[in-house]
Amino acid sequence: MPRYPSPVIGIDVVDIERLRTALARTPALRRRLFTPGELSYCEARPDPVVHLAGTLAAKEAVIKALRLGPLAAWARRIEVTRAPSGAPSARVDGLGSCAVSISHDAGVAVAVAVAFERA
Ligand SMILES: CC(C)(COP(=O)(O)OP(=O)(O)OC[C@H]1O[C@@H](n2cnc3c(N)ncnc32)[C@H](O)[C@@H]1OP(=O)(O)O)[C@@H](O)C(=O)NCCC(=O)NCCS
Repeated sequence: MPRYPSPVIGIDVVDIERLRTALARTPALRRRLFTPGELSYCEARPDPVVHLAGTLAAKEAVIKALRLGPLAAWARRIEVTRAPSGAPSARVDGLGSCAVSISHDAGVAVAVAVAFERA
């Protein structure tokens, strides 16, 4: 019987104002959680924290989908990039890419991640 790769998914939600407070209180968090490429995308937007929250939610969703471990260990090893269309995707150091989708509204950012396990 043929075997197909199994899909794995992860989801996460980030409270935008809670992240804003955390970044104001601990400015070093920006560089601990985000790559230079992520910072340059988000910081070019009118309200960067909205996009940082979506980026953070995407990283946590990838961690759940791939069962990677603590955010502190993986935050900079997962890079969320955007295509010219705006569509996001994630690259995981040593593991390849993971599909992600991000949305933000009503004070929160949410993201889902999908990948396929080898059969
Ligand atoms: C994608 C789209 C539906 C977003 O909807 P929205 O309700 O305004 O915004 P949401 O909060 O739900 O989603 C925003 C997120 O959608 C994602 N996104 C943006 N463009 C996208 C696209 N083309 N495909 C998939 N996801 C996209 C991004 O991750 C964005 O968050 P980020 O900037 O923090 O990364 C809307 O921007 C759209 O219709 N874009 C069309 C893009 C397009 O055709 N561009 C061609 C020009 S080159």
